[in-house]
Amino acid sequence: MSELLIRGRVLTFVAEPQGIDDTAAWRYFEDGAVFVRGGKVVATGDYAEVRGRAGADVAVADHRPNLVLPGLIDTHLHFPQTQAIASYGAQLLEWLNTYIFVEEQKFCDTGHAAAVADRFMDELISNGTTTAVAYCSVHPESVDAYFTAAEARGMGMIGGKVMMDRNAPDALRDTPQQGYDETKALIAKWHGRGRARYAISPRFAITSTPEQLEMSQALVAENPTCYVQTHLSENKDEIAFATSLYPEAKDYTDIYARYGLLNERMLLGHCIHLSDREIAVLAETRSVGVFCPTSNLFLGSGLFDRDRFDKAGARWSVATDVGAGTSFSMLETMDEAYKVLHLRGQKLTPFNSFYRMTLGNARALGLEDQIGSLHAGANADIVVLDSSAKPAMEYRMRTATSLAQELFILQTMGDDRCVAEVYVAGKAMKAKASAKARVPE
Ligand code: GUN
Ligand code: ZN
Repeated sequence: MSELLIRGRVLTFVAEPQGIDDTAAWRYFEDGAVFVRGGKVVATGDYAEVRGRAGADVAVADHRPNLVLPGLIDTHLHFPQTQAIASYGAQLLEWLNTYIFVEEQKFCDTGHAAAVADRFMDELISNGTTTAVAYCSVHPESVDAYFTAAEARGMGMIGGKVMMDRNAPDALRDTPQQGYDETKALIAKWHGRGRARYAISPRFAITSTPEQLEMSQALVAENPTCYVQTHLSENKDEIAFATSLYPEAKDYTDIYARYGLLNERMLLGHCIHLSDREIAVLAETRSVGVFCPTSNLFLGSGLFDRDRFDKAGARWSVATDVGAGTSFSMLETMDEAYKVLHLRGQKLTPFNSFYRMTLGNARALGLEDQIGSLHAGANADIVVLDSSAKPAMEYRMRTATSLAQELFILQTMGDDRCVAEVYVAGKAMKAKASAKARVPE
């Protein structure tokens, strides 16, 4: 069984940091190491100690002085929108109709879907993201392309075929029965195969009839280990349209509640303009609100209110939401998260940011036993970060005097250039992913 000792400044979380001084929430080893065997973490700690647990001839990947962290996790993005990032000048509904529903039609071509899936996975890896939850297109073949590309890289990815049966072009609509049948077949094929996990994916209330949400309800009831994902309360026009389509619902959240879709495996993109009642329902059902800062700023959607979630005891995670999100980088995403919360007078500490990208998002997915931290038995999904990768960062780092400052510099100034290496199940991936990303097709 292959063994590797990954050496560097190791940082991993054991709890959510409750304040800037909450050192009990994380473990930091200045000269640390992660001992990996057969794709799993065997031990994490001080180099001298961990070294003793490995054989004398174990291979050592020496990343000093870089930071070694658990691989980053992205809880919401759209794989078919990889080539639609940076589409100009519109808010949500116009943006979907003008750009996204045009782009997603290309995924009826399996060759196109496979090519984009490869680039998508490589882009994630280049940015240090080792697990993500993505929407595929309405075409079942796009799901095959997605999970095939993930499997080839050993990545633990979550995803599913989008279901939509109205308010979208003919070529992107399924029917309630077709959405059900195709999703059921894809779950049978992919859910639990290796590291793949399926997310039942009605796009949002606007593009699903009541009959389709009923079929989604059946899928959720019949597949209790699958994730569920949709969009909620992103944009004011969206809310007005969605609630007009479901006049019997108390509010937007109640639409999904009425169809039994809210549970602890539900990921609800955006959740910006919610009432107290709606946040209380999310808390009660343990559903997760997904904060997508670059997307929310790009589409002019609004500012996520973290404090209201925390006060209500509601769960939330962070995500890029590519292609409304403007970057695959979770570092850049947390940079924008900080600014969004700052505008609301709310604080996101550097340790909390790094917790959110790793253990926090793993907990949102209920996968904290497998990913998001470097405890013994976890998958060896690991990112190596260089805080001085850019000249301006190197210059700034000269004046940094604490780990908290370094993390804040990484999140504020960093991007994929700071990702020195990525291990997926113990295998080094960055060089290959970045090289392929530079080859024109
Ligand atoms: N709401 C429904 N579909 C989408 C999408 O593709 N992106 C975003 N940002 N919001 C949505
Ligand atoms: Zn989305």
